[in-house]
Amino acid sequence: MSSFEVIIIGGGPGGYVCAIRCAQLGLKTALVEGRETLGGTCLNVGCIPSKALLHATHSLHEVHENFEKMGLMGGAPKVDWAKMQAYKADVVAGNTKGIEFLFKKNKITWLKGWGSIAAPGKVKVGDEVHEAKNIVIATGSEPSSLPGVTVDEKTVLTSTGALALGKIPKTMVVIGAGVIGLELGSVYARLGAQVTVVEYLDAITPGMDGEVAKSLQRILAKQGLKFILGAAVQGVEVAKGSATTRYKLRKDESEASLASEVVLVATGRKPYTEGLGLEAAGVDLLPRGQIRTDAHFAASQPGIYAIGDAITGPMLAHKAEDEGMALAEILAGRAGHVNYDAIPGVIYTTPEVASVGKTEEVLKQEGRAYKVGKFSFMGNARAKAVFQGEGFVKILADKTTDRILGAHIIGPAAGELIHEICVAMEFGASAEDLALTCHAHPTYSEAVREAALACGDGAIHA
Ligand code: NAI
Repeated sequence: MSSFEVIIIGGGPGGYVCAIRCAQLGLKTALVEGRETLGGTCLNVGCIPSKALLHATHSLHEVHENFEKMGLMGGAPKVDWAKMQAYKADVVAGNTKGIEFLFKKNKITWLKGWGSIAAPGKVKVGDEVHEAKNIVIATGSEPSSLPGVTVDEKTVLTSTGALALGKIPKTMVVIGAGVIGLELGSVYARLGAQVTVVEYLDAITPGMDGEVAKSLQRILAKQGLKFILGAAVQGVEVAKGSATTRYKLRKDESEASLASEVVLVATGRKPYTEGLGLEAAGVDLLPRGQIRTDAHFAASQPGIYAIGDAITGPMLAHKAEDEGMALAEILAGRAGHVNYDAIPGVIYTTPEVASVGKTEEVLKQEGRAYKVGKFSFMGNARAKAVFQGEGFVKILADKTTDRILGAHIIGPAAGELIHEICVAMEFGASAEDLALTCHAHPTYSEAVREAALACGDGAIHA
């Protein structure tokens, strides 16, 4: 039996980052992972492979939409789907191998296999039991199921199956207009599939700033995605390799159905906590399946901690990473903290969507006095030069103190631009602080500054 100061179960972004930080802080660390490769859902079947397909298909979209305008003639390239899949696999392999290298560099032991808690301070992996002063559960999440829908990963898919289809479908129904549905729906729409998104609510991307959501829906509809909103999916039937999705419109209870070659079920994810021996270990779960933790990631039993999708909060890789780092600091006897008010969220469609902090809807609900500074990318020279004038930056600041409360961006490189505002929020900055900061010209970032100026005496280019 080997013994460690920390054993982490789960090698996704939460777990592996926690392991690296623990090792850097001098703790003898092991990580249990049953997949062939490290990196969890994110690197293997989530964020990273989807970004490869999004990049490839975005490039194709650029050729179709803009190349001729710039005098680049010759027509669109042919799509070699097998090669695109191989490119995606290479991107994934490069990243997962990178984590393995970091494990060796930091002298972290990878215990290969599926782990469970055998007894207090003991983790079982295969036939072996290892001792741990601290056990960290970082097992992530899995797609949640939908009544009446059986996933076979051939015709009825989760994101995992949708990333690895044998061929490009002609028609696709996406259930759920959340992040996964819109990202993967975009991929296949750009590849020529007729994509119809069926969403239960009356708007896409729940929780997102309403104006941004409307704008995104309009832009995606122009790109060919069809939306059926306010529709509750009742079931999916598969016959002879094709699917029929039945739904009920909430406004009048009328029923309808849609036929398609494949169906992507993207109705959310649930914490993955089965088979870990949590019940026997006396670890409390919350009603929705997450592990109950305190502000320091401690579960209800001493020596057991949990982070990432397995606990409450947004199911985002970077949130898990931050929790992993903060917990490592705590386990090393230091202070560890995550500022949940400044966690960005990004949707990697074209244009990208990014947000941090509160939405206008939430501020209204809270009865807070706020001001809005908005700036359209149509006033941004760089964006217009590259045909990306659609979209805007919206900054919300406290009416009295001018402190930034939230920001919502739809437009070019929104996923990068948002971080300027995250840093500003970490420092408790006012909109004026951003507005007084020199921004290089011509950059997309100038639109952020202009939105900050619009919180005060006004934007210059509006
Ligand atoms: P989601 O929670 O973002 O969206 C699910 C959507 O499905 C919601 O709009 C919901 O109203 C709808 N829905 C639920 N039941 C339905 C029904 N019966 N009929 C029609 N619509 C229904 O979930 P999603 O997209 O599956 O993503 C899962 C998690 O993964 C999320 O927490 C997301 O943040 C994360 N993720 C993040 C990414 C990123 O940061 N770029 C990329 C991919 C996933």
